[in-house]
Amino acid sequence: MLVVLTSAVFLIEISIMVAFSLLPPISSWMENLLDAAILATLLFPVLYFWVFRPLIQAIERQKLTEAELLKYRAHLEELVESRTRELQAVKITTDSKLAEKHIRALRGLYATLSHVNSTAKRARNWEELLLGICKGAVEEGKFELAWAGLVGHASHLVNPVCHFGREEGFLENIRISIDDVPEGRGPTGCAIRENRVVYVNDCATDNRVASRREQMLRHGFLSVAALPLRSGKKVIGALQLYSGESGFFDDDHVMLLEDMASEISFALTRFEQYAAHSNVEEERQRALENMQQALKDSIHAIAFALETRDPYTAGHQRQVAKIATAIAREMGLPETVIEGVHFGSLIHDLGKISIPAEILTRPRRLTALEMQMMQTHPQAGYDIIMGIDFPWPVSEMVLQHHERVDGSGYPNGLKGDEFLLESKILAVADVVDAMTSHRPYRAGLGIVRALEEIEHHRGTHYDPLVVDACLRLFREKGFSYTD
Ligand SMILES: [Fe+2]
Repeated sequence: MLVVLTSAVFLIEISIMVAFSLLPPISSWMENLLDAAILATLLFPVLYFWVFRPLIQAIERQKLTEAELLKYRAHLEELVESRTRELQAVKITTDSKLAEKHIRALRGLYATLSHVNSTAKRARNWEELLLGICKGAVEEGKFELAWAGLVGHASHLVNPVCHFGREEGFLENIRISIDDVPEGRGPTGCAIRENRVVYVNDCATDNRVASRREQMLRHGFLSVAALPLRSGKKVIGALQLYSGESGFFDDDHVMLLEDMASEISFALTRFEQYAAHSNVEEERQRALENMQQALKDSIHAIAFALETRDPYTAGHQRQVAKIATAIAREMGLPETVIEGVHFGSLIHDLGKISIPAEILTRPRRLTALEMQMMQTHPQAGYDIIMGIDFPWPVSEMVLQHHERVDGSGYPNGLKGDEFLLESKILAVADVVDAMTSHRPYRAGLGIVRALEEIEHHRGTHYDPLVVDACLRLFREKGFSYTD
């Protein structure tokens, strides 16, 4: 357009010049005006090509650039808006997945904690407790593996004591220290050393599990938490929980895991206290049994010594013990009473040790004075053993075995309930054996005569229930006590 216009102006200019050259001369001002017009016409193309055209093109380009910029800006805004919408959608999805994972982890931990509570109440010892917790952590808490380890007594190493889940050789040759060495810098070593819950959320990258990384990844364990196990104030081991998800644990879970550790530790402390108490009780029982055995041995030794000195009553005490024990059992008395009757009978004539041997072995009936001396033997026997703390009323039996229920006995003339049932049993057994056995001054009278004697004095000398039991034994049950 401009080219056409310029060319036209140029042609017009040439025409004017030709016309003026053909016309008559004009005035000077007209000539100057014509020169100026010619000059302007000549300069116009130059000005156009070198000044106006680039200027116009620049302005056009500027207009174009601004339009493009506006357009591009609109496009960018649209893009940003679209991208923002996408990002928001991704963020919502990610947040939702994280929330779901968090809730799943919490659910597992709560289930495990609940199982820990019930197991702690039900378990009878620490082995049952720890195995039950490992089982619950896998079955209820959905962990891949749970294992408990205790610190060795002599070493600083953690020894696995139980596990549940996908172990598959994972614990074989495991070496975990509680010291600050490479084997002790994993969660287990730290949990025990620092007495706190320690977790690792990315086993693939966390250097705290560097020494076990290969085994963990091979078994698919991506997160692990270790809980310290305490007995009293002492950390004795740790419980390990393995998850197949990375980032399974977070700080919100630590409080739950600490609660779990406290619950287990409380139960472990209770077991230790119970075991300590049981040990004390066992020691006490053992000491009591030892003491009772020593007393029994002493009683047998005394009986043997007495019988050695008095051959005519040799065996008498053992025979009396057999009869008296059988009567007590026939009467349905407790075993401890029967035992007391047995040992009291074995040494009931202990006091005869104070009687001169010639009186004991004299082959005739004793004089009144000798009989009087003989009747001191219950008190003499009692005086010998009264300071000994037998678990049975042995000294009273020794003292009372010649008392009679009507008060006609000696040394104190006790009657009725004033003396022990054990002594009344001993009295009947003593008479039965004494009458049945031979004496230096007479032959044995026989069991029939002896039973008639106690039957005759039933309720006067002898306790009726004891006599009835003795008669049943011999007459109805064919009891025999001779060797
Ligand atoms: Fe006696």
